[in-house]
Amino acid sequence: MKVKLALAAAAAMSAGPALAVDVSGDAAAGEKAFRQCITCHVVVDDSGETLAGRNAKVGPNLYKVPGRHAGQIEGFRYSDSMSQAGENGLVWVEEEFVKYVQDPTGYLREYLGDSKARGAMTHKVRKEDEAVDIYAYLASLGVHEE
Ligand code: HEC
Repeated sequence: MKVKLALAAAAAMSAGPALAVDVSGDAAAGEKAFRQCITCHVVVDDSGETLAGRNAKVGPNLYKVPGRHAGQIEGFRYSDSMSQAGENGLVWVEEEFVKYVQDPTGYLREYLGDSKARGAMTHKVRKEDEAVDIYAYLASLGVHEE
């Protein structure tokens, strides 16, 4: 079930922008589940304010990852497979994000049709629901607009 987002969380942040991505999860639950990501990721907005996480730099900044092409954060050294996926047009819509975070290397192999592809993210989200909720949380912090 997909709904055009009318997140309680986005509303609570008052000036929530109109969102260009479909989101079906629960942002509040996603905020809790996001704790498993902050050993490697931060969410830092364009003014440099940290919206989530601390200062981990193992993985790329996830600010406005919803709706963005894969592998686009300047200065971050992505795996060859992730860079290739971005060049091939992979965009982080909910469906792709949810599959990716549950099995990053497996996902890239399938996406690229290359059994030797290898992603640099070792963490796997155990439950699909959790991945859906984390996506909603990230979307509540900002979505990429073309
Ligand atoms: C152990 C460290 C680690 C953890 C924990 C981790 N990641 Fe990552 N993540 C990475 C690395 C490294 C990359 C770069 C992958 C590549 O280049 O193949 C990445 C890439 C990503 C990307 C692609 C971003 C882009 O710019 O294209 C997304 C989305 C992502 N991670 C989401 C998550 C979420 C959500 C969680 C928590 C559930 C999480 N990650 C947990 C290390 C981690």
